[in-house]
Amino acid sequence: MKLSGKVGCVTGSARGIGWEIAQVYAQEGAKIVLCDLQQADVDRALAQLRLPADNMLGLRADVTAEDDVVRLFRAIKEKFGKLDVLVNNACFAWPREGPIDLEVAETPLAVWQKVLEANLTGTFLCSREALKIMRAQGFGAIINISSPQGKQGKLLRGPYSAAKFGVEGLTQVMALENSARKIKINALDPGGIVATEAIRNIPRNKGKKMLSPQAVRPCAVYLASDESAGVTGISLVATDWNTQQGIEVPYMIA
Ligand SMILES: NC(=O)c1ccc[n+]([C@@H]2O[C@H](COP(=O)([O-])OP(=O)(O)OC[C@H]3O[C@@H](n4cnc5c(N)ncnc54)[C@H](O)[C@@H]3O)[C@@H](O)[C@H]2O)c1
Repeated sequence: MKLSGKVGCVTGSARGIGWEIAQVYAQEGAKIVLCDLQQADVDRALAQLRLPADNMLGLRADVTAEDDVVRLFRAIKEKFGKLDVLVNNACFAWPREGPIDLEVAETPLAVWQKVLEANLTGTFLCSREALKIMRAQGFGAIINISSPQGKQGKLLRGPYSAAKFGVEGLTQVMALENSARKIKINALDPGGIVATEAIRNIPRNKGKKMLSPQAVRPCAVYLASDESAGVTGISLVATDWNTQQGIEVPYMIA
């Protein structure tokens, strides 16, 4: 097992890509911290992990709320005494309640702010609190979930693309600031549209071929494990990484 003895926290992990990463980290021997917006969702996911109570922790936390984030990382320190891996995953391209697919010329400030806060401010707040623990212990890994839109703009993705470019930049800055402290900080871009439940539920996506959520698993394990010791400040594309490693890229029909 590649993550034996490690403690990993995945934000926005009650479903989707975060849940996928939490599951594979548990299978690889890590102790798991889940967080999401609703405690009931966190409890349901925790139950499905089937880990001993000593090896998991689940809290309701909004990553955009400073008090929630401070409470989350304090609870991690109290329960496990350390934090090896943080995955900043909790995000969305458009608010789930809409509106969606807006041009920048018609985007309300409130929508812009929601997308920026979840993607970018959430990554900043969680990283800052995790770094307090990781700097004191002298090791750690942070993985920021990015997107193809964090490297190239796409129509009707103004706030999301701006936020993910920001996540890529923040990854590079944090890597520079922490490389001498044995803390590696990298981005992970799935490499395409991932058929999470929310994506599959969008009517126009029915029947389309998309990445299976499992596509992110091997790369997420690599960046969290000691195999990537010294690797910092890069943005890995899961599909490319899989291919380079000779691992099949799994697809599915939404
Ligand atoms: N699905 C894709 O096609 C795709 C592609 C590239 C990148 N991504 C990225 O992957 C990550 C996960 O996306 P997903 O598709 O799994 O989304 P999802 O909606 O399926 O899951 C996101 C989870 O995050 C939670 N969440 C949202 N805001 C939160 C907040 N403020 N605090 C705590 N939890 C919060 C949600 O409740 C949900 O459980 C995001 O960073 C997204 O940008 C997704």
